[in-house]
Amino acid sequence: MIRELVIKTRSHRRFHQEVPIERETLQELVDLGRLSASAANRQPLKYILSCDPGQNESIFPCLSWASYLKDWPGPAEGERPSAYIVVLGDTRIHPTFSCDHGIAAQSIMLGATEKGLGGCILGAVDRVKLRQTLNIPRHYDILLVLALGKPNETVTLETVGPDGDIKFWRSKDDVHHVPKRALDDIIVG
Ligand SMILES: Cc1cc2nc3c(=O)[nH]c(=O)nc-3n(C[C@H](O)[C@H](O)[C@H](O)COP(=O)(O)O)c2cc1C
Repeated sequence: MIRELVIKTRSHRRFHQEVPIERETLQELVDLGRLSASAANRQPLKYILSCDPGQNESIFPCLSWASYLKDWPGPAEGERPSAYIVVLGDTRIHPTFSCDHGIAAQSIMLGATEKGLGGCILGAVDRVKLRQTLNIPRHYDILLVLALGKPNETVTLETVGPDGDIKFWRSKDDVHHVPKRALDDIIVG
């Protein structure tokens, strides 16, 4: 079960934009983040939820998509995410956030998959612009943006070839290929 869920939880970047995601669904996903491990159990993460098309439109230009796909500028209108979760670190609780946001993000993405949704963790964020756009107070660090929607693309895993190239790529049939290192290559002792 967990292996299937992890395999299915790929980064999706093209969606059925017309399929809405309710705020309640986002709350349920953030609850999975809330229940996840946290360094010293400090729980410094806070979240902004967006499922309103107007607000989504204002978040989209703050994001950078799939840097390896040089000829693809990111999802076109009609295939953009239906919702976003902005993951913040509350510096009033602690100045640093360890890997809390990575763990919470994965919990949320696994939960999204279970709900028939998909998405992408985005770290390439224009934080100055996003802070202005959403009027985010200075005591929150902007850590990640999670884009969510009903996926509208096929993503497949393959093993990294002998050339060691880890760049994801798209084939002519529009399938997105993600090379993963072989198990033997990552267990070093
Ligand atoms: C911390 C983190 C930051 C990421 N930032 C971006 C990003 O800014 N833009 C993007 O398109 N994908 C981003 N990704 C998605 C990765 O590109 C993706 O995980 C990788 O290509 C492997 O694909 P997979 O998630 O399907 O295994 C990010 C992933 C992680 C974990």
